[in-house]
Amino acid sequence: MKDLIEKLAKEAQEEISQAGSLTQLEELRVKYLGRKGSFTTLMTGLKDIPNEEKPAAGQALNHAKKSIEHELETKQQHLEKEELTKQLSDDSFDVTRPGTHVTTGHIHPLSQVQKEVEEIFGQMGFAIMDGPEIESEHYNFEALNVPKDHPARDMQDTFFVSGKHHENHGRMVLRTQTSPVQIRSMEKYGAPLRAIMPGRVFRYEATDASHDSTFYQVEGLLIDKDVSLANLKGVMTEFLTRLFKRETKVRFRPGYFPFVEPGIELDMWCLLCSGQGCRVCKNTGWMEFMGAGMVHRNVLKAGGIDPDEYKGWAFGFGLTRLVMMKYGIDDIRHLMSGDLRFLKQF
Ligand code: DAH
Repeated sequence: MKDLIEKLAKEAQEEISQAGSLTQLEELRVKYLGRKGSFTTLMTGLKDIPNEEKPAAGQALNHAKKSIEHELETKQQHLEKEELTKQLSDDSFDVTRPGTHVTTGHIHPLSQVQKEVEEIFGQMGFAIMDGPEIESEHYNFEALNVPKDHPARDMQDTFFVSGKHHENHGRMVLRTQTSPVQIRSMEKYGAPLRAIMPGRVFRYEATDASHDSTFYQVEGLLIDKDVSLANLKGVMTEFLTRLFKRETKVRFRPGYFPFVEPGIELDMWCLLCSGQGCRVCKNTGWMEFMGAGMVHRNVLKAGGIDPDEYKGWAFGFGLTRLVMMKYGIDDIRHLMSGDLRFLKQF
């Protein structure tokens, strides 16, 4: 048995050393070590030899197998290297040629900040709602307590969609604000309600560094039984502190919006000087941030909610303006320009 093993091992070694390709080498692996390979057959044959010869034969067999495995491995590495060298020296493969450059895009700064806003409000239990960009006059104005011919309609210059009329809801407009989603959410989900509604809005405006005909807002709405503006102050302080990752304070000033009563303007601490007063905030220490207030009874009614049972607050801020503040962008037109030189900075 021992002789047989030695003979076979020698034969295998020789063949391996002569193998000229990886395929040949694989054939040899199968021939000697495969399931039906010579060494496997010898291993099975062990049981038929006399007991006293078994240990020595077994040992010799294992030893031979190990050294063949080793040789196969070494030869394989050698052949692989050879093949690679051959490929590299082949004329059709120029290793000095620059590879194909794959450019990856990234999320637009407006969408990045929108996502951050959604995450922070999401953590505070607010749902994220959506509404149509082409709205009826009913949702964009009437239901928000802005009746026809009311001067408040002139606060926002509107794009009307020509020739489009809704059966009962008046003309169709490009929504001038995200506030109509308040009504749609109330109609759909009733009270209590806690949601933010980010989205694109449109105004018929002359374009300059701080005005564009298309921009983004975020609307907020909280309706419940025991709600006050104190809650709004807490929520907004927390929101801005988390967004800007440093302590931020807010203050209220009286303001007028037809859909709230009382209505307020909310200012936040100046991002540059945190309330100290600097050039950016014209030495006031504060920056205007958004409009808000207690939801008007008429608005709750328009949304199908009983104003004697529920009340709530609402707010609306400019997401576009927030992005400009966050990154110190001085011209609103950059954001919608699609100019890669601008976008690649974010
Ligand atoms: N929709 C207003 C605007 O575009 C912003 C606003 C003010 C929204 C007060 C509100 C609010 O919900 O309560 O100017």
